[in-house]
Amino acid sequence: MLVLGIESSCDETAAAIVNDKKEILGQALLSQEEHKAFGGVVPEIAARAHLEHIDEIISTCVKRAGISLNDLDAIAAASGPGLIGGVVVGVMAAKALALALNKPFVAVNHLEGHALCARISNDVEYPYLLLLVSGGHCQILIVKNVGEYERLGTTIDDAAGEAFDKVAKMLGLGYPGGPLIEKRAAVGDEKRFSLPRPLLASADCNLSFSGLKTAVRKLIESYSPDGDIEHADIPSQDVADICACFQYTATDCLVRKLKRAIGIFKSKYPEGKNLVVSGGVAANAYLRGKLKELADENGLIFAAPPIRFCTDNGVMIAWAGLERFRAGYQNELDFKPRPRWPLDENAPKAAGAGGVKA
Ligand code: KG4
Ligand code: ZN
Repeated sequence: MLVLGIESSCDETAAAIVNDKKEILGQALLSQEEHKAFGGVVPEIAARAHLEHIDEIISTCVKRAGISLNDLDAIAAASGPGLIGGVVVGVMAAKALALALNKPFVAVNHLEGHALCARISNDVEYPYLLLLVSGGHCQILIVKNVGEYERLGTTIDDAAGEAFDKVAKMLGLGYPGGPLIEKRAAVGDEKRFSLPRPLLASADCNLSFSGLKTAVRKLIESYSPDGDIEHADIPSQDVADICACFQYTATDCLVRKLKRAIGIFKSKYPEGKNLVVSGGVAANAYLRGKLKELADENGLIFAAPPIRFCTDNGVMIAWAGLERFRAGYQNELDFKPRPRWPLDENAPKAAGAGGVKA
């Protein structure tokens, strides 16, 4: 079984072809550089850039795979959630191919792409406990099966990646902030500043990063003669220390809430073996290390996609599309892309909510 997957929901235009032996036959990815000057993704610029590059990305991917389009069994596209102008570009390309080739179209929830991605390179069986941490989302979920999710907790304000990006912006480090903070943090003292851990005492699995971000802002303001962070003059070692303290605190919040989630997961699914992390922030080696320790302490096996498949890519959409198609789900060509699309609403049998049984 061969599936083409297309990703265009944020600032990566990407395509990949995978088969049911978990082989990646070909892929192509373009990370849009246009947004760097703005310190964040500009939706209109993103949509236009996707439109400009999507055809070339798809044809490069097909060429690299060494197949003919007719060999495909299905065409999948990330169909939400995301920046709708970009999502529409990928979905229209996929639908056009599906129509022209007379092949099934599979609408993939971008979050499901992240959620299932670790299954390509790791031996991860359902059910598993998942920490999904990206630029737009931060959730703790039980992945029961394809399209079957139970959300145990979510952020009540910022996503984890968003917090990394905002702190990096405040420090003038650039965009995307996650990798830049991680690099500086590696030479910083993570115990130098004590930062708040919002919601830690609450008896649920919810998270919050907005108070942490505000505390970092106050810290940066203290380096400015007039209290304006634009004028803050922070010695290089202090930047590293702030990055390390932020990364330490954000990770600690995730680990502590996951500890609670592991208790729930184990009592509901004693057969479950894996703790999985995915999404852009899962590329963070410090976080991966702490989660591995947590999994080891709790008798679970830690798994994560290879670093290059943590941030948005075509492989995760192709794979989620393949898993959905293999399970018997596909979508009509009038499927409407969804700017908002909670993963735990992804019931496969609900028409319009991600697929109908073929
Ligand atoms: O999954 P993704 O590519 O896009 C969304 O679906 O949002 O995630 C992008 C996010 C950005 O916020 C970026 O700063 C963060 O992932 N990120 C990281 C690292 N690499 C990317 N955060 C922390 N450490 C990293 N190494
Ligand atoms: Zn993503």
